[in-house]
Amino acid sequence: MRVIESVAEMRTARASARAPVGLVPTMGALHDGHATLVRRARAENSTVVTSLFVNPTQFGPGEDFANYPRTRDRDLRVSEEAGTDLVFAPAIDEIYPTGGTTVVDPGPIGEVLEGKHRPGHFKGVATVVSKLFAIVRPDGAYFGEKDAQQLRIIRHINRDLRFGIEIVGVPTVRAPDGLALSSRNRYLTLEQRRAAAVLYRSLRVAEQLWRRGERRSGALKVAIQETVAAEPLVSMEYVSVADSDSLNEIEVVDRLALVSLAAHVGKARLIDNMSLPAGLSPAGTGRDV
Ligand code: PAJ
Repeated sequence: MRVIESVAEMRTARASARAPVGLVPTMGALHDGHATLVRRARAENSTVVTSLFVNPTQFGPGEDFANYPRTRDRDLRVSEEAGTDLVFAPAIDEIYPTGGTTVVDPGPIGEVLEGKHRPGHFKGVATVVSKLFAIVRPDGAYFGEKDAQQLRIIRHINRDLRFGIEIVGVPTVRAPDGLALSSRNRYLTLEQRRAAAVLYRSLRVAEQLWRRGERRSGALKVAIQETVAAEPLVSMEYVSVADSDSLNEIEVVDRLALVSLAAHVGKARLIDNMSLPAGLSPAGTGRDV
């Protein structure tokens, strides 16, 4: 595995890499969710590029950019074990050579849900992912369903900006108690970590209601809120039932829907989601170009 820090060197390596080339963008602090993306890319490509870059423009003021876990040595080990050929780990100036005046704005789907609570977040994500696409020019790129809105937005910019990359969505990897793996879980104390499992349990409660025929979004959201409210260490920020394509709220689950939530647990802000009908990925089969 080779570690590359400059855009120039990345372009040269790309030019002689065996196709297809798969890209797994990450912010480091790798866990088994990331490793699962890399393994999937490994299975489907001749060359796997994993990027490690804590992107400053997707963090809001007062968010955890300065404290975001940076575990480079471990990240290199995890990347290599999962099958990465090239790690792209650029410094900030390599990605933002002019200081970042050019911005990719995904439009309305970037302003609902997470975008409403984290203004500008998805402009930062869309901008950095567009840059990574332009530098690496992958054939395929791998993203987790854990960040369902992010995946939806990447599909949108891929289509709209004509990148022509195959975007692959990978199901959420969870701990045995259901908590979605996240780099931010390491902010939790033992007790908070135990409490955080209520988030996934609450989604399962809503799923069970849906299976028994409940289609009113309001009732599903109340069930989630009540389940989470029983856990005093967890405070809900929002819960949403939205059209999985537009990400606009719906009153009745009469089409493919994304149920998503955000909550604060100690110092961590955690998100999770599921699709209804359960088992279907938010944007269909997990793939598109
Ligand atoms: P990061 O949070 O490091 O996540 C990198 C990728 O791993 C994302 O596609 C995310 O959805 C996926 N991922 C994280 N936890 C996962 C889990 N438990 N199961 C499956 N996949 C999981 O998302 C970002 O970085 C950034 O926004 C980035 C796209 C790299 C742009 O800066």
